[in-house]
Amino acid sequence: MKSDEKIMPTVFTIFGGAGDLTWRKLVPALYDLSHDRSMPHHLAIIAVDRVALTDEQLRKRFHDGVNKFSRQGVVSDKKWDQFALNIYYQQGDFKKKETYSALKAQCGKLEKKWKSKVQMIFYMATPPVMFGEIPKYLGEAGLSNERGLSRIVVEKPIGYSLESAKELNRTFNRSFHESQIFRIDHYLGKETVQNILAFRFANPLFEPIWNRRYVQYVTITVAEALGIEHRGGYYDKAGALRDMVQNHLMQLLCLVAMEPMVSFDADEIRNKKADVLHAVRPIRHNEVNQYVVRGQYGSGRSGSKKVCSYREEEGVNSDSETETFVAMKLLVDNWRWQDVPFYLRTGKRLPTQCSEIVIQFRAVPHRSFPKEASLDWQPARIVISIQPDEGIILRFQAKQPGPKVLLKPVDMRFNYRESFSGPFPEAYETLLWDLMQNDATEFMRSDQVEAAWNILMPVLEVWDSTKPEDFPNYAAGTWGPECAEWLIEQQGHRWILPA
Ligand code: BG6
Repeated sequence: MKSDEKIMPTVFTIFGGAGDLTWRKLVPALYDLSHDRSMPHHLAIIAVDRVALTDEQLRKRFHDGVNKFSRQGVVSDKKWDQFALNIYYQQGDFKKKETYSALKAQCGKLEKKWKSKVQMIFYMATPPVMFGEIPKYLGEAGLSNERGLSRIVVEKPIGYSLESAKELNRTFNRSFHESQIFRIDHYLGKETVQNILAFRFANPLFEPIWNRRYVQYVTITVAEALGIEHRGGYYDKAGALRDMVQNHLMQLLCLVAMEPMVSFDADEIRNKKADVLHAVRPIRHNEVNQYVVRGQYGSGRSGSKKVCSYREEEGVNSDSETETFVAMKLLVDNWRWQDVPFYLRTGKRLPTQCSEIVIQFRAVPHRSFPKEASLDWQPARIVISIQPDEGIILRFQAKQPGPKVLLKPVDMRFNYRESFSGPFPEAYETLLWDLMQNDATEFMRSDQVEAAWNILMPVLEVWDSTKPEDFPNYAAGTWGPECAEWLIEQQGHRWILPA
């Protein structure tokens, strides 16, 4: 275990401490952090939940989660015991004052024991209905007063619409200052996503061509082979637009389209990202069908396995109109990107799991090579592969060896795992580390969240009032409905299959 005296003693409270997110993601990430990087010298993890559990039972559950999901694999008893010493369980109702006074008393005890002030992190790993409640009680208990010492963390979805997101943000702001609110989008913790800024702004090579003069269009694909995996209850109310586009895909769009930041200051970067969202051309209600298409999977195959349709999934209405696929075209109205389409698509039960951003460059202004030299000719492109192949590919034309001049597209590849020896932290690890350092760079600010909702509201409103007659409109294991091809082909563009 590595510890660092410079990081403030920390009380890491998880509401929903007996839940799945805590077991699967948060505690394994904290364990990995303690293994590979420095953790606060004094750290207590307090899991708060309704069910009756002893500290020992909770630790056992967490140990099991760490064995299953941490990067370290199965953990030796000795190492686990050392880590588990700091874990406590507190049974409590999230809507009762006593829960919060007990928490406050516990923080006080730890301050005495450690002879130091503590920083308090309150992580809401609860169902979204609690997001509006917990901050209120924390505020009333006086646990949100000290700006530098108290932080609240919220998972997506931040609201179900622009209005509900605004309401939620107002609720947070009643108890916490914006600088204390950490809205998690785990995509921002992925190494390959963080690398987009390094690629663009730490090299003088790409920025001069990263604009409308050279770029013809951009595609952002986040494809999943999995279905909804026992999350029917949540997903059927959310759908792909809320679940993926409003957050993950919008964040990727921001990173690709933003202007260079002046410094690495959290607000400077977040300002530049918010500028992108503000520049997205609003989609009018009567244009929704030209800019956005939706799909829902029917039965089909996932690899060699037969899989059921979305409507047959557990927890889903048998006549559900929820979309499991979205493709959309966005235009960013500014000097850099005027008239360059950004195509976004995401879906469940697609042929493969893959997240990729493709920057498709324009054709050369004049083809000086003989026609027969360039039959195979393709414009250059950069593929930023977020997952599972983490890396970047630059595709360009090369001369084939031989006496004749024949051109062929070739790839220059950078692969993370080959270039670096690791460790390769998981997204949650990186984000929890930032959280303990009070670094909000990779967290969403309220204005960004609201700007993203603002773009999508006309789509949601039109979809709410028009029944998707053709659902299900794609078979599981295919690349989504035909209308997604139509959307991009209208301008002679195409989705590029995973590299
Ligand atoms: C979550 C969505 O935010 O991201 C899930 O709620 C989705 O529906 C998941 O499966 C995808 O994350 P990743 O890291 O596996 O691409």
